[in-house]
Amino acid sequence: MKRFLESPYVVEMVRNIAAMYAHGWDERNGGNISMLLTEQEVSDYVEPASVLRTIPTGFTEPFLEGRYFLVTGTGKYFRNVPYDPADGLGLIRMTDAGRRAELLWGFSDGGRFTSEMPAHMMSHAARLRADSDNRIVMHCHPDNLLAMTYVHDLDERAFTRTLWQMETECIVVFPEGVGVLPWMLCGTNEIGVATAEKMRSRRLVIWAQHGIYGAGRDLDEAFGLIETAEKAAGIYMKIAHLPLRQTITDEGLHQLEERFGVKAREGYLD
Ligand code: 13P
Ligand code: ZN
Repeated sequence: MKRFLESPYVVEMVRNIAAMYAHGWDERNGGNISMLLTEQEVSDYVEPASVLRTIPTGFTEPFLEGRYFLVTGTGKYFRNVPYDPADGLGLIRMTDAGRRAELLWGFSDGGRFTSEMPAHMMSHAARLRADSDNRIVMHCHPDNLLAMTYVHDLDERAFTRTLWQMETECIVVFPEGVGVLPWMLCGTNEIGVATAEKMRSRRLVIWAQHGIYGAGRDLDEAFGLIETAEKAAGIYMKIAHLPLRQTITDEGLHQLEERFGVKAREGYLD
């Protein structure tokens, strides 16, 4: 049997974690990632019947029954995960209608999955219903998006329109817009339910004064979404206090829709 540590899933995850840390999005243990895997993908590396231990989740998500996830561990510093991936990551299988997770590999110091499991698992269920190819949910704390939630209206249409106006590519990358939640207590089932509700029709959800969630078919898509929104937020924070002379007009945004074959979220453009 091949070593899971050397599998493309762990290798890609570690590469992605290192890039997120390099961007300054994941101070200390900030941020978490979950990657959906199939039984076929994992069975080359682990024996599905060999469960190391079972960890309660504290919620129910029957849609994910029997699904496998590679997940970051709670309290793990992204800076350190590349040095010991078997400590910082775990491979789990959801069981008992999502109430418990069976550990098949990793969390080698006796640890457990991220405290944000409710938001991750509920978001996976929501995204899978919208796109059966979705595999990634990613959370982190990028400076500019966080800063923007202190000074910008949190109305989703207004927030999305500002991001679209800050960089030409934005409407092409996330035409469905961003969801925005007011500050809520993190790590709870309540914030998980609220995040998943937004994820039903979007791949980006901002948690005011906390961070952002991105979803995608692969790590590049989720990372690229967050990277693009964060770049736009950075432009906003550079110009917000200056007199605005011009911006990208709705006419321009409509031209981008046509040129790139995307459709802006209904009602978001004039
Ligand atoms: P974990 O260390 O439990 O993943 O939490 C980090 C975080 O970003 C909480 O929102
Ligand atoms: Zn967080």
